[in-house]
Amino acid sequence: MNKPTIIGIAGGTGSGKTSVTRKIIASLEEHDITLIEQDYYYKDQSHKTMEERLKTNYDHPFAFDNDLLIEHVKSLINRESVEIPTYDYVNHTRSDKTIKIEPKNVIIIEGIFALENEQLRDLMDVKIYVDTDSDIRILRRLSRDIKERGRSMDSVINQYLTVVRPMHLQFIEPTKRFSDIIIPEGGENIVAIDIITTKIRSLIKKL
Ligand code: ADP
Ligand code: C5P
Repeated sequence: MNKPTIIGIAGGTGSGKTSVTRKIIASLEEHDITLIEQDYYYKDQSHKTMEERLKTNYDHPFAFDNDLLIEHVKSLINRESVEIPTYDYVNHTRSDKTIKIEPKNVIIIEGIFALENEQLRDLMDVKIYVDTDSDIRILRRLSRDIKERGRSMDSVINQYLTVVRPMHLQFIEPTKRFSDIIIPEGGENIVAIDIITTKIRSLIKKL
């Protein structure tokens, strides 16, 4: 069997990666797609105290277990199912639960560092960077982290200024150069979503 089509979707926090991913999956409703969120591969911190977990830099490439992610992507390429970890943003560690993921013809890998690792990039057929201004991104993140990730306004602002912003400039923004296509503003960019899904359809046809 041929290699599945692998799509990488990167971009800063709050740029709209998740929204773009959902739109792509919805537009390709006739196809089964495997979604891997890179956040699931944050390193397990169950052996650490909460105080130690709060000090972790979650915006550094070292925070991720990329070896496991790459191993799982390679298994999916070989048409083997994998048990992927899940992540708990409130407790800052891996959840007990794993999810069984079946191999499909299209695999989407979405996350802030989706384009950072060369080995992972080399497995991808289409590399996307979602590019949204930082003022919009912090406003979206503030609202989302308070509503969905159990954070206070002060903690989000403090984390953004001390860690998220400097790490974005140092490690995430530079990965834009590895992308094939840059989507400004994320999920509302209908033309970009259309171009990408047309390309994915043509790649699936060749399988
Ligand atoms: P990311 O995955 O890059 O962190 P998300 O897609 O999760 O970004 O978006 C972050 C937050 O911003 C979410 O709460 C989402 O609903 C909201 N959001 C995303 N895109 C838009 C948009 N175009 N307009 C308004 N809100 C948006
Ligand atoms: O969904 P999004 O791309 O925003 O997720 C990545 C962000 O999640 C990172 O910027 C990181 O700061 C944040 N994060 C966090 N706490 C964790 C794990 C990740 O705030 N425990």
